[in-house]
Amino acid sequence: MFLNLLLNAAQAIEPGDRANQSITVRVASRDDEVDVSITDSGSGIAAADLPRLFEPFFTTKPRGVGSGLGLSICQRIVGEFGGRLEVESTLGTGTTMTVMLLAEEPAPATPLPLLRAEPSAAGRLMVVDDDAAVLDSLKRLLQAGGHEVVALQSGEEALEALSEDDRFDLILTDLMMDGMSGIDLYEALDRDRPALARKLTFVSGGAFDQDTRDFLARVPNPQLSKPFELDSLLSFVAEQLAGPAEPPISSS
Ligand SMILES: Nc1ncnc2c1ncn2[C@@H]1O[C@H](COP(=O)(O)OP(=O)(O)OP(=O)(O)O)[C@@H](O)[C@H]1O
Ligand SMILES: [Mg+2]
Repeated sequence: MFLNLLLNAAQAIEPGDRANQSITVRVASRDDEVDVSITDSGSGIAAADLPRLFEPFFTTKPRGVGSGLGLSICQRIVGEFGGRLEVESTLGTGTTMTVMLLAEEPAPATPLPLLRAEPSAAGRLMVVDDDAAVLDSLKRLLQAGGHEVVALQSGEEALEALSEDDRFDLILTDLMMDGMSGIDLYEALDRDRPALARKLTFVSGGAFDQDTRDFLARVPNPQLSKPFELDSLLSFVAEQLAGPAEPPISSS
């Protein structure tokens, strides 16, 4: 949702004149409400367009640039959280989109998952992601769970590192990467070192093309969808380290 709003803000700004252009994100909380506003110095919105802004397929952008779905999706998402999305705009000056969310009741205090992680379940993990920020947060989360983590920023680097040292319990790899993708990495390993290929878990944002869907249906490897919570990431890893579940006891 925020990406949609930020993209709209960026697309409303004519390229050039950097010194006078801005996108400002503000977060304000009061009582039980949190407001996040995104203000741009872009084109602004014509008053006549305002009533239709949130309609699906309403766009003023050229064919191929906008589908007109962004804001209707944003509005649906905010609605699902019981919040609102409001627009304020002056033609020629800029626009502010504000997401208003109700703060939840604070959850009862629970012990930090860090403290609950069993040291005995620690493993040696490789993490591969071409997004440095995702890679870094995965590494930290897993280290916080007591694991030893080797983080690499491409499939190529992973393959090379594995050729020198393959003592990993689990390899978490992003599916979509520039250069060698998660699928390429799987296929390279499967050719030469099938036991390592079986240690791969595919991490993805969940939007796939048909080839990727076919691939995922064909291989037995587990998948993990981004974004994940610390708890579910650590319990997923713990399950994988514990090995396959016991086969059900036959009743006959
Ligand atoms: N920050 C903004 N500044 C100026 N106009 C905006 C802004 N945000 C939205 N709009 C207007 O609202 C219209 C609808 O926005 P919406 O995000 O729904 O679709 P889109 O950006 O055209 O296409 P899509 O998001 O599907 O790629 C845009 O075409 C644009 O005219
Ligand atoms: Mg948009």
